[in-house]
Amino acid sequence: DAAASVPVRRLSDWDAAELHTLVEDYGSPLYVLDRERVRENYRRLETAFPDAEILYAVKANALGEVLSTLREAGAGLECASAGEVQRALGAGASGSEVHYTAVNPPARDLDWVVDAWADGPELTVTAGSEDTIDRLEERGYDGRLCLRVNPGIGAGHHEKVATGAAAKFGVPAERAVDVLADAADRGFDVVGIHAHVGSGVSSDQLEAHREFVARMGDLARNVAGVVGGLEFVDVGGGFGVPYREDEAPLDLESVAEATREALGAVDADLTIEPGRYFVADAGVLLTEVNTVKEARETTVTGVDAGMTTLLRPAMYDAYHPIRNLTAEAGDGSIEAENGPAGRERVPQTVAGPICESGDVFCTDRQLPASKRGDVLAIGNAGAYGYEMANQYNSRPRPASIVLADSEARLARRRETVTDVTRPEREARSASPTDR
Ligand code: LLP
Repeated sequence: DAAASVPVRRLSDWDAAELHTLVEDYGSPLYVLDRERVRENYRRLETAFPDAEILYAVKANALGEVLSTLREAGAGLECASAGEVQRALGAGASGSEVHYTAVNPPARDLDWVVDAWADGPELTVTAGSEDTIDRLEERGYDGRLCLRVNPGIGAGHHEKVATGAAAKFGVPAERAVDVLADAADRGFDVVGIHAHVGSGVSSDQLEAHREFVARMGDLARNVAGVVGGLEFVDVGGGFGVPYREDEAPLDLESVAEATREALGAVDADLTIEPGRYFVADAGVLLTEVNTVKEARETTVTGVDAGMTTLLRPAMYDAYHPIRNLTAEAGDGSIEAENGPAGRERVPQTVAGPICESGDVFCTDRQLPASKRGDVLAIGNAGAYGYEMANQYNSRPRPASIVLADSEARLARRRETVTDVTRPEREARSASPTDR
């Protein structure tokens, strides 16, 4: 399969001239997503896990076009909120393709999801506490129920994304059998157990993954005896992708093998729900240089994207590769980075327009000397990029372009300040019951 043989897409693989043209056409900052790469990533995962049920964790990138692409490829959709469920159904998913993972769910989320379920779609609700089960029952829900357990093991690229041991998530695994037996007695259709260790799990965390899946296997065997069989065991997502240009990709085959081995013999389907893996390297963020200055200790390259556009560097010290597309293009012809048209490389701090000292994409990184008007590309921005964007400093969110069938399409327009201030204007005409 040709797709499976394209193991990683690096930022250096993107066509500089094509990206540059997008900024000329659509402005900056700009998110770009390559639909075909999303499909390739799905096929790579499907090849490694041929027997698994694959859900896409919508939170990584909820753009409608991403959802429909992955649905068509065969993925179900894992949703973290009523809003995401709404998007999933809007993208054409039927209820049976949707899992709603309720984390301390606000009442309006439960109300919405239970109403939607009562109207027909046979979705699966994954509850992470006994309170959530009670609240579902109070609303008359007795449909498909999965229990999120806390396996007591966490992993991931940063402590802020290790979920497996964080107290906030799931019912302690030791209590799962009792909780599910009780739910089954109360008439819920108990279909599965779920856990997610963390996000950005790398090959060197394979042991933690193995231990975690083994615990899920043990639990599944215990639970199945009590509730009369389980349909699936969902071991979450978390598959890491390389962010640094020289970083080796996750060895998916060995993760898949370790998963099957550790799970052992259970009479239930294996379900996985990655987000990042499908979309991270399918997206780049383009941003224009507006300021170049010699600061006391470094050269600062000021750009129009910031922590409000791509939060990951500020929040997790996450590394994202950066290219100067204009410098590479030279006088119009694409040259090798240090070729005839190439510029000298100098250490620089690429910083955004937000009034926070943490608003930097990199510090002292060697990049071609920047000039005002240059277009930079920030790689691996397809996962948790736009999704975590916000309007701090009254900064409208950027536009999103989808590349598909050899053309570029505006998939989401750029916000304006009018969008930012609209809720205030509308407050005047809102009714006090619009809570
Ligand atoms: N399932 C559940 C229940 C999750 O909480 C998550 C991610 C996933 C699946 C998908 O994980 P993935 O395959 O994408 O690693 N904003 C952070 C990542 C937060 C992930 C939260 N949960 C980041 O940018 O690194």
